[in-house]
Amino acid sequence: MFGKVIVLIMSILSLLLIYNFIRISLVYKNKQEVDQILTYLNKYLTTNYYAPPTNHTAYNSILVKPEFDYCKRSDLYKFYHPDVIMTDTYTFREAKGVIKEALRSSYFDCIPQMYHKLRNTQTLSKHVLPEQLTLPFTYYDQLIHKFKVGQASLCLFQKYNHLPSRHVLSHKDNLMNNQYKYIDSLRDKGIDQECINNATFIPKTYRLFQKQDCKEFFDYLNSNEYQNKIAQDGPQFITKVGLEVHRGRGIKVLFPEETKKLQETYKYGKRCGQDHSLLVAQQYIGNPMLYNNHKIEFRIYWVLASTYPIIAYAYDKTLIRRCIAPFDKFSLNKEAHVCNTAIVKSTLKQRGSDLDLDDENADESELFIDWKLDYLQDLLLKQGKIKDRKWLQNYLYPTVDRMIIHAIKSVEGQITRDSRLAEFFAADFILTDDLKIHIMEINYNPQTLKTTPAREQQHTKMTQDMIDIQNAYLRSKYLRFKKIILKILSKMQKDKRPLDYIITPKILEEINAAYKDKLDQGIKLKDDNLFRLIMDENLPGTKKYKDLIQTKCL
Ligand SMILES: *[C@@H]1O[C@H](CO)[C@@H](O)[C@H](O)[C@H]1NC(C)=O
Ligand SMILES: *[C@@H]1O[C@H](CO)[C@@H](O)[C@H](O)[C@H]1NC(C)=O
Repeated sequence: MFGKVIVLIMSILSLLLIYNFIRISLVYKNKQEVDQILTYLNKYLTTNYYAPPTNHTAYNSILVKPEFDYCKRSDLYKFYHPDVIMTDTYTFREAKGVIKEALRSSYFDCIPQMYHKLRNTQTLSKHVLPEQLTLPFTYYDQLIHKFKVGQASLCLFQKYNHLPSRHVLSHKDNLMNNQYKYIDSLRDKGIDQECINNATFIPKTYRLFQKQDCKEFFDYLNSNEYQNKIAQDGPQFITKVGLEVHRGRGIKVLFPEETKKLQETYKYGKRCGQDHSLLVAQQYIGNPMLYNNHKIEFRIYWVLASTYPIIAYAYDKTLIRRCIAPFDKFSLNKEAHVCNTAIVKSTLKQRGSDLDLDDENADESELFIDWKLDYLQDLLLKQGKIKDRKWLQNYLYPTVDRMIIHAIKSVEGQITRDSRLAEFFAADFILTDDLKIHIMEINYNPQTLKTTPAREQQHTKMTQDMIDIQNAYLRSKYLRFKKIILKILSKMQKDKRPLDYIITPKILEEINAAYKDKLDQGIKLKDDNLFRLIMDENLPGTKKYKDLIQTKCL
């Protein structure tokens, strides 16, 4: 009796062993070696690419517990389950709203219970990151600040929707400062004025604490051209105190009296270089294009699909917004000139703030006119301001794209380079009544509205198009790495030598090339994707910039 039980147990055990053997040897063929290679790759890439030094103690509102062997498991799992990457999309988002709903309706939300936990930092972490996760799509960028990159988050076979250095574009003072530095660097290279004009994306700004800028500014104030302009169009400049520009505060409009005071302070330019007060004079856009007597702005959504190399796309559908107060260029009321209400909200929404994320959908519906720029084109055609029925394609989009490219180029040295990183931005543009365009500001995590079914549908589509981009780059990279891993594996088996001998400088070169984002291996964006490529550093010469910047301007 006892013997029989033993035999039974033994046979069950041996069956289990055989089962396990089959599972490991057939399904997870060469698991040990592949594991070794993947561990090597993650370590190599973390050493040579983006790896922030430590995990900060930032506010972890997503309640996910970091696990230090996570990438090891996740990458291995994906190596043996290509469908997880090539066919499916595993994602999650902590913030409620249109984006989360869009993700849930079209893809696998792999942490469905996840929601942003308000003011409850004490609660223990409830979730862990699932191995299948390919495209975490979070509102906050905690996966890079709270998790050890390359170990606990942002594995080889993942693509994140955030970029740690995004503030170089989205903070107003940074945007302005980078514009200055960029223009300076072009001047230093001896690049001609027409190029510099085209590279100027924010309204012309003079730093009065900088000798050359200051002189140029006062020379202009003394010119007849300037006198004629103010006689005809009213004030031409505003001054702002400090580099840290907060809209509406410290702003003076240069009416004749204020201009005179300023000229006296700077002795009509003679004190340039001696007065170091942090004052800037910015061209005042006193002739905005009006809609029913209100200033309008339009918002271009765009993504940095990768920063290694830089690849950017802009969205074809655009939001037109109007300002609250009716416009009057002679008014001394700031409300008439300063009209961006979203500004307060976006400032509050910086990382770490306790703001209720339901606000992601906060809406001022009456301030949004239409989703399409076609409407603007129709209006301009009707007003006789333009004749070209393809004005959007021939003028507006190329101009907008070039400005975004220059904005990116102005910070290219400051952007964290890694193919796991990406970011979603919106740039607000103002159009003047003579059809000139300026960037007013750039935000990340732009609001996605759902007030009307049409708008909700548009934002859902935009989310799907963003995911399509993320997937396409990740899938190409996955296929490139799979080839390399199989190649290393076969060498290991043939040469019977440890990994260190197999990874030659040539193979390292291949690894570095494979890590660079590009669409290849037969992967393309969907035909109905409404994002258009505006910049791709993989391409040669001026093709990088869609030929929107001439060679002599580079
Ligand atoms: C931070 O990193 C250390 C190891 O570098 C780890 O022991 C610790 O648990 C991490 N803390 C958090 C909150 O992730
Ligand atoms: C500047 O922009 C204009 C209009 O957008 C374009 O026609 C011109 O070729 C550009 N010039 C240079 C030097 O890039």
